Amino acid sequence: MTFDPYEIRSHFPALQSGAIFFDGPGGTQVPQEVIEACGDYLRTANANLGGTFETSRRTIEVMADARRAMADFLNARSPEEIVFGPNMTTLTFNLSRAVGRTLHAGDEIIVTALDHDANIAPWVALEERGIVIQWVDINPEDCTLHMADMKRHLSMRTEIVAVAYASNAVGTINDLKRIIDLAHERNALVFVDAVHYAPHGPIDVQELDCDFLTCSAYKFFGPHVGVLYGKYDLLEKLPAYKVRPARDRTPDKLETGTQNHEGIAGVVAAIDYLTSIGEKYGIDAVKQYQSFTGRRFHLKTAMAAIQQYESKLFTRLMEGLQGTRGIEIYGITNPKHFNQRTPTVAFTMEKLSPREISGQLAQENIYVWDGNYYALEIMERLGLEKHGGAVRVGLCHYNTAEEVDRFLEVLGRIQSEES
Ligand SMILES: Cc1ncc(COP(=O)(O)O)c(C=O)c1O
Repeated sequence: MTFDPYEIRSHFPALQSGAIFFDGPGGTQVPQEVIEACGDYLRTANANLGGTFETSRRTIEVMADARRAMADFLNARSPEEIVFGPNMTTLTFNLSRAVGRTLHAGDEIIVTALDHDANIAPWVALEERGIVIQWVDINPEDCTLHMADMKRHLSMRTEIVAVAYASNAVGTINDLKRIIDLAHERNALVFVDAVHYAPHGPIDVQELDCDFLTCSAYKFFGPHVGVLYGKYDLLEKLPAYKVRPARDRTPDKLETGTQNHEGIAGVVAAIDYLTSIGEKYGIDAVKQYQSFTGRRFHLKTAMAAIQQYESKLFTRLMEGLQGTRGIEIYGITNPKHFNQRTPTVAFTMEKLSPREISGQLAQENIYVWDGNYYALEIMERLGLEKHGGAVRVGLCHYNTAEEVDRFLEVLGRIQSEES
């Protein structure tokens, strides 16, 4: 069946407001199914884990189901490789502190200028233990990662490479397979930040062979819940900071305190929502996947269908932006390489600040972000930080060609009023 964004949109109550949501990289809207799952949990299963009574048993089931669903979403080998937490940033700080206990002064960690600060600051914090941080630069012309610089910094002293799947500022998708192979040749582990990439394409941790990977459900149509994947053996031997009664096993030892159970119930619904897209519109059904819940196959084909739809929408947006006078676009602009980027674009205009542009768009009910979106390093590297960063337009599968056209029309008007 042809991908139908209007059928898709009918699942999302927020989209009925008439506003244009191009703010997806900061957090997506949620389908009705997710809203209901959170409410249902609170109505019928609200309890803590480990009791003998009905609501506690239901909560255990919800957690187990969510772990299986996330294992399918990421193609993990086992649900125990999935750890939940409040958000990616907190999970990454927890993990880096635990990893830090296993490192020695002089060991090295690689971070990149393309990353969100949540995949930089938790590693830089280990400098206080004598860990040396190596910074990999970008190619400023197209905001791709400087691979020669990556190779130069990788050595037998490298313990961790912390790298984004895709940049939340300029949309660049990194050549992860290559980075992971290079890192593993030097016995370094790779920690992938997939927060920005997750709503836009299929993730397969086994195929990538990454050691850790994080994402956040609120960026892929779920509630505010963070998710960490780690290879089972690595998580098992990690000296996590935990309370004494918590089991010293993965995932329990890494899930400090009581989790956001209602949000996690919503994560299952978000995965089910994506699974249903695969059932309806799935493409590239080439390979049968191992699956804990039967969802994996549909998830893979759903994300392929989403990718194909978004790519067409993004080309329309880029053609319009490139045809608007006085606009500077950051990142990959050659359509031949659009498969190396997500449908997220950052730009500035000559006469107006990013804040002024986003404010004028907001008055027309078009929601976009401005600033650095915590991708501080790249904004500084591009010389934009001191000028208020850039405007970021982020498309996702519930956006339409009409919305893109309306945005371009309003932007064109803003531009001509200023010149
Ligand atoms: C690429 C990327 N990494 C990390 C984060 C932080 O995620 P969280 O809000 O779950 O801590 C974000 C949030 O915008 C992001 O876009």
